[in-house]
Amino acid sequence: MKSLQDTTTLHNGVKMPWVGLGVWRVNEGEEVVQSVKWAIEAGYRSIDTAAVYKNEEGVGKAIKEAGVPREELFITTKVWNDDQGYESTLSAFEESLKKLDLDYVDLYLIHWPVKGKYKETWRALEKLYKDGRVKAIGVSNFHIHHLKDLMEDAEIVPMVNQVETHPRLSQKELLQFCKENNIQMEAWSPLMQGELLGDPTLVEIANKYKKTPAQVILRWDLQNGVVVIPKSVKEHRIKENADLFDFELSREDMKKIDGLNLNKRVGPDPDNFNF
Ligand SMILES: NC(=O)c1ccc[n+]([C@@H]2O[C@H](COP(=O)([O-])OP(=O)(O)OC[C@H]3O[C@@H](n4cnc5c(N)ncnc54)[C@H](OP(=O)(O)O)[C@@H]3O)[C@@H](O)[C@H]2O)c1
Repeated sequence: MKSLQDTTTLHNGVKMPWVGLGVWRVNEGEEVVQSVKWAIEAGYRSIDTAAVYKNEEGVGKAIKEAGVPREELFITTKVWNDDQGYESTLSAFEESLKKLDLDYVDLYLIHWPVKGKYKETWRALEKLYKDGRVKAIGVSNFHIHHLKDLMEDAEIVPMVNQVETHPRLSQKELLQFCKENNIQMEAWSPLMQGELLGDPTLVEIANKYKKTPAQVILRWDLQNGVVVIPKSVKEHRIKENADLFDFELSREDMKKIDGLNLNKRVGPDPDNFNF
């Protein structure tokens, strides 16, 4: 990967940018419109939203105002837990599409593995995919056992698994499983929501390459074959988080970052969430 617009190819041939902008906790209205426009101006082509973020309308507005052809963009949204099930997922999808004011989304994800429901939800995603309403389908917050269980009945293997991943939660076993099954792993909260940026090891490595700790973390993900979607509402950080293609971490520094893993989460464990 050499530039911000470089892509990974999903198992169905669809191309997905390695870097996107996340918009969780970005306010609907001016804030999300501005952030998405700054990102597209800076060269981002991928935006990650979700029904539950309540900012799909603003994402759609920004896409129109940015003036980049629709087919050059990669838009992800997700079905929320309350809407899981076959019919309710199909309705939730229509609602998201209407809010985004788009004809299709590039990637539709099951947001969390709601027990007893995610297989029916997956059947709805398979229908949307076969009907050409979405270019790719995937899951989020699935452990290996959730993926195995889903794949027992699925017709289509998920193309993506979006999970919390950062140097304190490196998810190496899951990454290996995803690679073996042609599932692209995607890191949410790649910066651990900002908590990791003062870590002395990351600061030291960043100084060595004349980059920032955020850039070092995101580069570590890319070199591991993981897609990243850092969130920022600040133009200079949106640019900083995309400036990842003029350096390469050595094998030794990759190992040092791997060594920071503590299996520590900032978000809930997918085996134990109640929403
Ligand atoms: N599937 C899921 O269940 C799930 C869960 C959580 C998140 N996500 C997705 O993943 C995206 C990213 O995760 P996230 O938003 O939780 O956290 P994140 O990207 O790890 O971190 C975002 C935080 O770091 C700050 N920040 C960003 N770039 C920075 C930089 N270069 N230097 C210093 N601080 C920086 C941001 O502040 P400012 O905005 O003030 O710059 C914000 O407070 C979300 O937006 C969402 O799209 C998905």
